[in-house]
Amino acid sequence: MSDYNSNIQHPTSNIQVPRHVAIIMDGNGRWAQARGLPRAAGHRQGAEAVRRVVKAAGELGISYVTLFGFSSENWRRPESEIKELMKLLRYYLRSETAELHRSNVCLRVIGDRSAFESDIVELIENAEDLTRPNDGLTVIMALNYGGQADILQAARKASVDAEDDLAFEAHFKQSLMTADFPDPDLLIRTSGEQRISNFLLWQCAYSEFVFTNTLWPDFDKAALEGALAEYAQRDRRFGGLKHSEG
Ligand code: IPE
Ligand code: IPE
Ligand code: MG
Repeated sequence: MSDYNSNIQHPTSNIQVPRHVAIIMDGNGRWAQARGLPRAAGHRQGAEAVRRVVKAAGELGISYVTLFGFSSENWRRPESEIKELMKLLRYYLRSETAELHRSNVCLRVIGDRSAFESDIVELIENAEDLTRPNDGLTVIMALNYGGQADILQAARKASVDAEDDLAFEAHFKQSLMTADFPDPDLLIRTSGEQRISNFLLWQCAYSEFVFTNTLWPDFDKAALEGALAEYAQRDRRFGGLKHSEG
């Protein structure tokens, strides 16, 4: 799904709110390091920030939020850190699913979940099943997600039954893990890094990028509003001309 004019009106002001915000939640380790704490403490605070930002996104009238929680390259980290992250993922899914459901949030997970332990897969499936009918904010968790792997699996599926280029393109888009969602209008990366780190490579073709030095555990509603204000100043052209010239 991909249509280009997807802004919506901010509930209380005049600014245009992006329909879909994707976030590379980076800087947990540095947040902890700066306080002389173990990296796991940063990840725990990062989970708090997720709770906060999901709530804020709903309040601000955003329709889709995609959160990069674990990349297909994050397995390169020390085993002890991966263990902590898995523990936290379990804890988050167990403690938050009911609250997300109460808030009318629909939770979806993209990425190769088969690499996770079976109890985590079950928690993901239960959360998706429970929240499927909800028509409020859609929260998309990218877990063991890699943009290149997404493109490869979609191309492999699409090439099986595509008779011509047009059919291939349609099948390819339908086979991406994000097929049910519009492309992100705004991509935010925290912690000062200015790279995409194999996130939504195909889907961010025309996304606006906002980079902030704020570390993810410190990210809050005000920081999100700051990014939305920056987004509202952008002139999206999609290869065409400025609005005023059209
Ligand atoms: C983001 O924080 C969380 C994950 C990638 C899982 P980091 O753990 O990458 O934090 P930094 O970049 O080391 O500060
Ligand atoms: C990107 O952050 C992945 C997530 C936020 C889940 P990383 O910390 O893994 O990215 P690099 O290694 O700095 O590019
Ligand atoms: Mg990082």
